[in-house]
Amino acid sequence: ATHPITAKAHTNIALVKYWGKLDTQLIIPQNDSLSMTLDEFYTKTSVQFLPELATDKVIFDGEELSDKDSAKIRTFLNLVRDLAHITYRAKVETKNFVPTAAGLASSASGFAALAGAASRAAGLNLNRRDLSRLARRGSGSATRSIFGGFVAWQQGHDDETSFAYPIDEQPTWDLAVIALVLTAKQKKISSRVGMQLAVETSPFYVEWIKASQADFETVKTAIQNQDFTLLGHTSEQNAMRMHALTLSSDPNFTYFNADSLRAMKMVKDLRLQGIPCYFTMDAGPNLKIICQGADAERIAQHFQAVFGDKQVLITRPGSGISISD
Ligand code: DP6
Repeated sequence: ATHPITAKAHTNIALVKYWGKLDTQLIIPQNDSLSMTLDEFYTKTSVQFLPELATDKVIFDGEELSDKDSAKIRTFLNLVRDLAHITYRAKVETKNFVPTAAGLASSASGFAALAGAASRAAGLNLNRRDLSRLARRGSGSATRSIFGGFVAWQQGHDDETSFAYPIDEQPTWDLAVIALVLTAKQKKISSRVGMQLAVETSPFYVEWIKASQADFETVKTAIQNQDFTLLGHTSEQNAMRMHALTLSSDPNFTYFNADSLRAMKMVKDLRLQGIPCYFTMDAGPNLKIICQGADAERIAQHFQAVFGDKQVLITRPGSGISISD
């Protein structure tokens, strides 16, 4: 293209988690996973391949990244160049509308947006399935951010068969996710390292796979029947089973901090008071609370009173990737 191509992709929150790879090179997961794409948190990336550039240039939130910090992005661009049979280096400008260190999965929106913008800028016109396969090579969770609403990532067994597909792109039931930003500190153990440790050392790993395949079917059914209790309960159980893998890894570790435990207790107390809500957590201490839209405001206020106004963000199901011409 003669001008930069821009793509916008949203983050997603996994209700059935991906936590382990069968193939670390191609990023083939150990199980099917299922997520909801989130409206408020997204990444916008523009890419242009230019003959005059000697190296790839990556500008992240206004600042040029060092070679070390842009390594994953440049590796990803090489993949796109190979696919498109081009050699030009690229100028990449990316802006995150996600609290980056808040555990809101910015690598998901980041690599989804990069896949969309880079592939189109390289002259490839990929359909969404192939785009999800490409995004997968950057970060597993990015596979699902190509689509909106509820999305499944089919495990598959190779590059061809491991991709995302939509389950319900525009849910007609009123759902919300409340993100609690309990710390802005960068996570200590990345998901990439944490999940590999679980695969290699947790004695519970095989059981996790069995349980999460069952959870996958249950959450799919819950979505089909718009059964909020089943969706929330199963998602919360699945998240805790994933976190049991960190505790049972060697060396053992946890993403929980004191505030995470406190917030979990608050969610359970709200349930006892008859307010339906459930939590899930990724590779960081921040909780995401799943609730019905009509309850979102008062649940958020309850947490704001404890953790502060700015730490509590309400979001709804979001749309899939969009790419400029
Ligand atoms: C806990 O997609 O960040 O958010 O594929 O190594 O880049 P890599 O890992 P990543 O892992 C996400 C883990 C998770 C669960 C999920 O999103 O399914």
